[in-house]
Amino acid sequence: MDEGRGFVFLRQDQREGYAMKEQLEALAAEARAAISAATSEAELEAARVAYLGKKSGRWRALMGGLGSLPAEERPAVGKLVQSISAELEALLEARQADLAAPAVQEALDVTLPGRTRRLGHRHPTLATLEEAIDVFLGLGFRVAEGPEVDNYYYSFEALNYPDDHPAMDEQMTFYITDDMLLRSQTSTMQIRTMEQEPPPVAYVVPGRCYRRDRVDRTHCHTFYQLEGFMVGEGITFADLKGVLEAFARGMFGERARVRLRPDFFPFTEPSGEVAFTCLICGGEGCRVCSGSGWLEVMGCGMIDPHVLRNVGYDPEQVSGFAFGGGVDRIAMLRHGLDDIRALWDNDMRVLQQL
Ligand code: DAH
Repeated sequence: MDEGRGFVFLRQDQREGYAMKEQLEALAAEARAAISAATSEAELEAARVAYLGKKSGRWRALMGGLGSLPAEERPAVGKLVQSISAELEALLEARQADLAAPAVQEALDVTLPGRTRRLGHRHPTLATLEEAIDVFLGLGFRVAEGPEVDNYYYSFEALNYPDDHPAMDEQMTFYITDDMLLRSQTSTMQIRTMEQEPPPVAYVVPGRCYRRDRVDRTHCHTFYQLEGFMVGEGITFADLKGVLEAFARGMFGERARVRLRPDFFPFTEPSGEVAFTCLICGGEGCRVCSGSGWLEVMGCGMIDPHVLRNVGYDPEQVSGFAFGGGVDRIAMLRHGLDDIRALWDNDMRVLQQL
């Protein structure tokens, strides 16, 4: 071999092996092109038969020449044959998979804009409830929850309701049996909680309540209340007012004020009606507050000594206050809704705005 002159001199046997390799490479290049050019499974099959077919394929024909190669050349050529045929088999398989996929590709127009799923959000009533609870947690209250089905004693008797009070009427309350009813207020939990725990106590109680109300713009048979109470030595009406004012500021902003007016509830004495500065007009007077600048949303009072005695507390030793009101109403006011049904109808056009 004289490499110095740029020629490659091959022995006869080497030349035969070399020629064979060249033919193999050339045929492989053609086969590769034919495989990737096939645009249907039928075309691909035709290419497979033409190049790699067991009987008549051109690859097979070339292999025929393998036996006549000089023995020394056979191992190298055999290796090449193996690697090329493995490669072509793999190409065939991959192309086969590509061509079998079009059913999916056609059904899937990747240029179409995607459909975004709408994210839900917390229900306005529950969001309001959670915010209110947060404010009371910050004031040192704890949270208690109780049964939505309760008996006559916890619902009315222990709360100092007189026997002929209309709230106990079947017209007002859903009874399950003579003694069991769907609670009509979370005040039931004043009794249940204080029975379990000696003073001092300070709790808020969120929960669902039920009344036999006709559904209209401002009434629903099912609604949420938040109850609160604090009992200990020397608790006065001033403490009640301070807590309500702190709640108003925490919930509705620094400028929110509280107005208290006399009211009546069987379990508090004295009792009050709680109004907050109107959320919508900030106290100027608007349609929502009927021009008064105030929104009446809660009841409150000093817990009646009878109630304290019913839970085993000594009214000579401790005193306390309670308050409670509807959460749906606060949620309605915050969102400027004038129909409570909008909260529960699940109309997407409304819910999207809240
Ligand atoms: N439970 C009363 C109602 O449903 C609201 C209420 C008023 C709760 C005065 C209280 C309170 O704790 O002291 O109308």
